[in-house]
Amino acid sequence: MIVGAGSWLNDRLHLDDEQGFLGKAFPAEDSFLLGEVALFSFVTIVLTGIFLGVFYEPSTADVLYQGVVDQFQGEELPASFVSVLHITYGVPFGMFIRRLHHWGAHLFIASIALHMMRVFFTGAYRNPREINWVVGMLLAVLAMGASYTGYALPFDEFGATATGIGYNLATSVPVLGDFIGELVFAGEFPAAGTIPRLFFLHVLVIPLAIIVLLAVHMTILVRQKHTEGDRSAAAAAAAEVSEDDDSVVLGLPAYPNQAAVGAVVFLFTAGTLSLLAGFLPVHNIVAYGPNDPASTPAVVMPDWFLMWVFGFLKVLPSWTTVHIGAIELTAEFWAGILFPTLVIGLVVLWPFIDRSAEPTHFTADPLDAPRRTAVGVAGISMILVASLAGMNNLFGGALGVSTTVLNPFLLWGIILVPIAAGILTYVLLGGRSGGGT
Ligand code: HEM
Repeated sequence: MIVGAGSWLNDRLHLDDEQGFLGKAFPAEDSFLLGEVALFSFVTIVLTGIFLGVFYEPSTADVLYQGVVDQFQGEELPASFVSVLHITYGVPFGMFIRRLHHWGAHLFIASIALHMMRVFFTGAYRNPREINWVVGMLLAVLAMGASYTGYALPFDEFGATATGIGYNLATSVPVLGDFIGELVFAGEFPAAGTIPRLFFLHVLVIPLAIIVLLAVHMTILVRQKHTEGDRSAAAAAAAEVSEDDDSVVLGLPAYPNQAAVGAVVFLFTAGTLSLLAGFLPVHNIVAYGPNDPASTPAVVMPDWFLMWVFGFLKVLPSWTTVHIGAIELTAEFWAGILFPTLVIGLVVLWPFIDRSAEPTHFTADPLDAPRRTAVGVAGISMILVASLAGMNNLFGGALGVSTTVLNPFLLWGIILVPIAAGILTYVLLGGRSGGGT
């Protein structure tokens, strides 16, 4: 058993083989640069986070505000809220760095999502790259966790209320709920220890886990080499290899060529983030004001990448709450914990569902893979419709319809639109005539 597992790992990671990094070939394919955008966004978040950490105060104890924002002059406000006001309006470049951190986090998650779609639709997760797919998914979940734990840190009314929804979900888990609430939120939200606990997770535990997993992700990538797109006859002839020889990868060497491409991608990422930070404001804590336990903002929403979970929460009817003995399984638990866990679990396990016995080193054309492409389109459609459901109040308002009327349609949409989109994709790509996987 252990020997079998050892050779399974060795087939994939070539643990017994030495290879140099500098000569590693990077296929010249633009979509392969999405992973680099994610990497450079993360670097930006870490550097700007260190700057913010110098001025941020992880405490909800009230302090007297004597800063430059007139409307709060002389008020007793939570120290964390005051410190973010100070970063934004008192520290030179503070507002710009705070915006860079914010947009860096959004670009990080957006580029991870696009990178993952590239890997999915080209079948690059197949044997031998299943492990890196699983590591990648852990990175994606950690990236969302990093964003979520940062949301409440200014302790403003909007961020704190939205984070409180997470507390309710965490404590809805049967048996373990209170323990998770204690571990992540240091007690009933917002307890005195909540902000220090979220701060600890946000600046130390999660970034450290991301760094370790990134090192694993990159090491596996170097060991296994990249997948490669269709090799042209001319490129194969120039390199004196056959067109279908998958023991070599044709591409740019890591140094100097790919390093130069990487530098351009870094500058492009930094430039895009600087433009966003220069022109687009973020989370206006002056307008929201400090957290007020006695009131709830008119509109509460999570960030866009968690909107699909919020959508499940909004449309699942409360009659789905059931009791099994002393255990209560609430609608919040089904929608906010179980469904997202099932979706993420299915994505993690996908390379083992769509498995291939033989190693595959060339990428597949999504148009030649009706089944995989149909599953991907169905998954994306479900996330999109669920995300729209998360904004049901906005649609209801625009259409002049109450959310009670709208929700059943949205619930059926979450179920039926992905099925229809998947079947349509499968048929359009000729899946019924038996072509491809
Ligand atoms: C912090 C987030 C991530 C970073 C910084 C990152 C970075 C990278 C980079 C730089 C590459 C090589 C270039 C490329 O193919 O784009 C790569 C390859 C790869 N990544 Fe990621 N990645 C992340 C998350 C993910 C996720 C969420 C998945 C999938 C669930 C994933 C799966 C893979 C796989 C299977 C490869 C090998 C692809 C191939 O050889 O064609 N990664 N990653």
